[in-house]
Amino acid sequence: MTDAHAAVPPPLATALAHAGQEAVLRFWPTLDAAGRARLLGQLAVIDWHEFETLRRLALARDADHAPTPLDLSAASTPPCLRLRDAANPLPPATAIAAGERLLASGLVGAILVAGGQGTRLGCTGPKGLVRVGPVSRASLFDVLFGRLRAIQRRFGKHVPLAIMTSSATDADTRRFLRDSAHGGLDPDFVHVFRQHDLPTLDARFGTLLLDAPDHLAMAPDGHGGMLVALHESGGLDWFGRHGVKHLASFQVDNPLALPLDREFLGYHLLSKADFTTQVVLKREPGERVGIVVAQAGRHAVVEYSDLSPALAAERRPDGRLRFHAGSIAVHCFTKAFLDRAAARTDSLPLHLAHKAVPCLDDTGTLVRPAAPNAIKFERFIFDLMPLADRVTVVEIEARDGFAPLKNPAGSAADAPEHVHAALVDHARRLLAEAGVTVADGIDVELDAATILDASDIAAVLPRGTHITVPQVIRGA
Ligand code: UD1
Repeated sequence: MTDAHAAVPPPLATALAHAGQEAVLRFWPTLDAAGRARLLGQLAVIDWHEFETLRRLALARDADHAPTPLDLSAASTPPCLRLRDAANPLPPATAIAAGERLLASGLVGAILVAGGQGTRLGCTGPKGLVRVGPVSRASLFDVLFGRLRAIQRRFGKHVPLAIMTSSATDADTRRFLRDSAHGGLDPDFVHVFRQHDLPTLDARFGTLLLDAPDHLAMAPDGHGGMLVALHESGGLDWFGRHGVKHLASFQVDNPLALPLDREFLGYHLLSKADFTTQVVLKREPGERVGIVVAQAGRHAVVEYSDLSPALAAERRPDGRLRFHAGSIAVHCFTKAFLDRAAARTDSLPLHLAHKAVPCLDDTGTLVRPAAPNAIKFERFIFDLMPLADRVTVVEIEARDGFAPLKNPAGSAADAPEHVHAALVDHARRLLAEAGVTVADGIDVELDAATILDASDIAAVLPRGTHITVPQVIRGA
């Protein structure tokens, strides 16, 4: 029989022994050269100092199976500017003009986070490939890249785009970009970077889990992994070389996302914010959106899973929820702020999630636990908010900019049919603004790459047009 530790580099063997993790080599004698190389490759990139932190957090958490409750006693919903609200301290027209100047000066870049595994939706590849176009069946990537192209065309400047992938989505995303000529974007203005994975630990013992004899169960490190991965991939410098001073970030699962909305960018600029964020009015306690809160002079996002049902349900005398600023994960940062945050090692805390993770038992059989058995770790980009000296919150109408695809068909919310309805409704409203009517029950879709607003529709369809068959409206 092969010596179990024959090919384990001594420094790694020492690190494993020191961390009490030799059990990950329990199938070593059975592995062929390729399997050993695979496992060694994973182990070689583990930061053992960080691992110790993860292990301690996992064990502390598992002692009571619950995170420490957040003290939100002194927290409130911060004041929000509202898109197109004349009552704003900053007039919408002034903000729109400022946002247009910003886009026309080429000072804005964008970051798309597309590393999530789409577990709830039940998709195996990148969510960006899921088809959402109500008539065209365009994918989320098609829609989001299309809108970026429309902005570039309107303002005559490139918006450099960084796309964050993960081990779960990287290869398929790059293949999509290759096969689609970068979704119509200039490849010089697209930077793809991959977030890191973090180990998944056994919740009882804080030990590394295997999901194959030669493979550790790992998971992407959350969208907050963007900060380190963007920096390490040279992405922040790349934005700098393109002259970018402000970075708008958004999620792949929202085909209506408006990270480059002129007015939103204008408020960001005029309020001199380090961090500006979009929210929608959270109406019901059960809505699965994080909430923006203000406490002790700082802003923060509290994730929905961290908000107790009692606090989530608290209402103010006017009937609104006490915490009603629902975060939709569309943010704009100054590049200087992201540079400062990336230079620190403690910018983003770790969040723990107790999950059911398939793993090998001692006999090497893959077990699919029915109950949570493991701790996964993630960082969230919105945890940069408390570090910002100036935060601006902009409320938008959900129907204008938030149609997230999270759940499979038939779910109560955020399912494909809800996204379909939201896109058709959005198209109908813009068409109505341009004086175009649509027969009842007819699906219409606006081509994201050529239609930004009603003025683009007016250029191709005369007022009074009545649409009676499903169609995609393309601009000039
Ligand atoms: C997320 C937000 C929530 C917000 C909601 C709006 C978090 C923790 N919560 O919830 O506050 O109200 O969106 O839709 O973000 N992703 C990565 N890498 C990862 C994990 C996720 O790139 O390691 C990306 C996903 O591709 C997706 C986005 O981040 O685009 C959100 O991830 P998801 O897990 O779907 O978050 P939600 O629970 O829906």
